[in-house]
Amino acid sequence: MDRDPNDIIHERGSILGALRYLTHGVYVLGTRRGRQSNAMTASWVMQTSEKPPAVAVAVKNDRYSHDILLESGTFALSALREDQVNVATHFSETSGEYSDKLLGVPYGLTPSGSPFLLDCLAYLDCRVLDTARAGDHTVLIGEVIAGDTLGHDIPLIYDPSEYEETILR
Ligand SMILES: Cc1cc2nc3c(=O)[nH]c(=O)nc-3n(C[C@H](O)[C@H](O)[C@H](O)COP(=O)(O)O)c2cc1C
Repeated sequence: MDRDPNDIIHERGSILGALRYLTHGVYVLGTRRGRQSNAMTASWVMQTSEKPPAVAVAVKNDRYSHDILLESGTFALSALREDQVNVATHFSETSGEYSDKLLGVPYGLTPSGSPFLLDCLAYLDCRVLDTARAGDHTVLIGEVIAGDTLGHDIPLIYDPSEYEETILR
């Protein structure tokens, strides 16, 4: 028997509504290919291993950063403070395809050459161990090969209402 389309719409709404209760931090994901650096805001980040320390980040397949990440095989995550919504907005509202988002932003390069923000709580320098296609995103698993804490404060937790102008495309 055919399903009522209203049930499907309802279920989809329920799934999206329920997914909003997963909590995420907010990070700036930096990567570098040759002399070209780029950075984007990323929330879909988690630790995946203790030995060796590893993290995963999900990057949508059509992001400008996506192919740079796959080609370079390295990335840095800068953990933002609770007062850095403006930084998250800056690195999400435009694409590195059209502008240099790092211009005028103080940043350093990790030992493996990825850009990290000098003004953040902590950064991780990662080397891609593995990747997995996951629907419209690619999950990159990175071994953490270096990292440092730059400040002690409350981390920024993702709250969709703070990015109403910057829809997650
Ligand atoms: C708070 C926040 C979190 C985001 N998290 C992710 C994420 O985890 N993965 C992703 O692919 N895009 C995410 N985005 C969207 C990208 O930051 C945005 O599309 C960015 O412009 C991509 O940059 P690029 O084109 O230079 O790669 C997020 C945006 C915001 C505002």
